[in-house]
Amino acid sequence: MRTSWSVNSTEEIRFGAGAVQELPDLCRKFDAENIVIVTDQGIVNAGILEKVEAVMAEFKVFVYDKALPEPPVESAVECLEAAKSEMHPDLIIGLGGGSSIDLAKVVALLLEHGGAPEDYYGEHQVPGPVAPLIAIPTTAGTGSEVTSVTVLTDKKKQIKTGISANELRPKAALLDPELTLKLPAYVTACSGIDALSHAVEALTAKESSYIEAEGKLLFQGANPISDALALQAIKHIVPNLALAVHQGSNLEARKEMMLGSLLAGQAFSNAGTAAAHALAYPIGGRTSSPHGELTGLLLPYVVDFNRPAAKGKIAEAERAVNPQSALIDDDEAALLFVERLFELLEDIGLPVTLEEIGLDEAALPDVAEQALNVARLVRNNPRKPDVKSFTALLERAYRGREYA
Ligand SMILES: [Fe+2]
Repeated sequence: MRTSWSVNSTEEIRFGAGAVQELPDLCRKFDAENIVIVTDQGIVNAGILEKVEAVMAEFKVFVYDKALPEPPVESAVECLEAAKSEMHPDLIIGLGGGSSIDLAKVVALLLEHGGAPEDYYGEHQVPGPVAPLIAIPTTAGTGSEVTSVTVLTDKKKQIKTGISANELRPKAALLDPELTLKLPAYVTACSGIDALSHAVEALTAKESSYIEAEGKLLFQGANPISDALALQAIKHIVPNLALAVHQGSNLEARKEMMLGSLLAGQAFSNAGTAAAHALAYPIGGRTSSPHGELTGLLLPYVVDFNRPAAKGKIAEAERAVNPQSALIDDDEAALLFVERLFELLEDIGLPVTLEEIGLDEAALPDVAEQALNVARLVRNNPRKPDVKSFTALLERAYRGREYA
């Protein structure tokens, strides 16, 4: 039995509409003069980089605007070399969705410790603190501004890979919901439902003492602090996601989503995610669906699958958004939450079956097997899956909620 757990977090969080104005103050705290901003073309085209650069007049700034989804590791080397040819960088800023922030994490790592990205693949391979890093998210979903993980592509080895270590958590996160006002509805839906799956999977994760693994873990299973963060995240996301999707200019809804995503990031980067994320990886390799579309689609089926083992936690989630469910028992409340997830997916216009996203039905047993290999996530799942039960879950997700 594991006898202790820990909670790690980004040290400083600044949150609020217009908070981007506080960026210079934050940079001064790090005594920074030469700053690298890592971002992407979408952020440039949306005018967000311009907004950020406008407040940075007192600093020397180098902009790398070529971040790509699941960034190729070569981009980190390219960014750092280009920046170093013009300055001695002393602070990195990741501005954008998860990809820009993930890339900025690797740039901060290489700036401090040198070497090549592949020297650090896997968990706990980072030898010490990385260069100062500020994350400014422009979507509400990944939680990357507070997490210890990066998702990368190694083109040479033709693999999807990652670097995960507590040292990669940004030193500071600056969250300004005004930066998300122009996010398209589909991106809002995918990123928002991913944030909800982070919260729900962290809440229902197996309790940390029962995680079947030895040694130091990044994803440690649920503890009382991750539970509190995850429940709060659910409270903020559930009533606001559809509003943010259908009424993108609603600043209050955007603020709630950004807060929910932040809380969910803090919860899952300690407790871990589970079956919905484990299943999403092999499906992601077979379809073109974005990560959030997959975790969102799988979530109600996974929560339903987990009901026998985690009905109390699932009922808590329902009670967090529906006070009247305090009067019904856990079984009924947990069922209501599953129904709520299906309705939410339909409301925000995302697919609810694996058939809709073009997955080959014959691939389901292979998907189940590959998902079971994602040990760091599967061991967090409250109900222990096997190939048979995962395949049955996938068959239901393929045919729809009515199929049992
Ligand atoms: Fe996710």
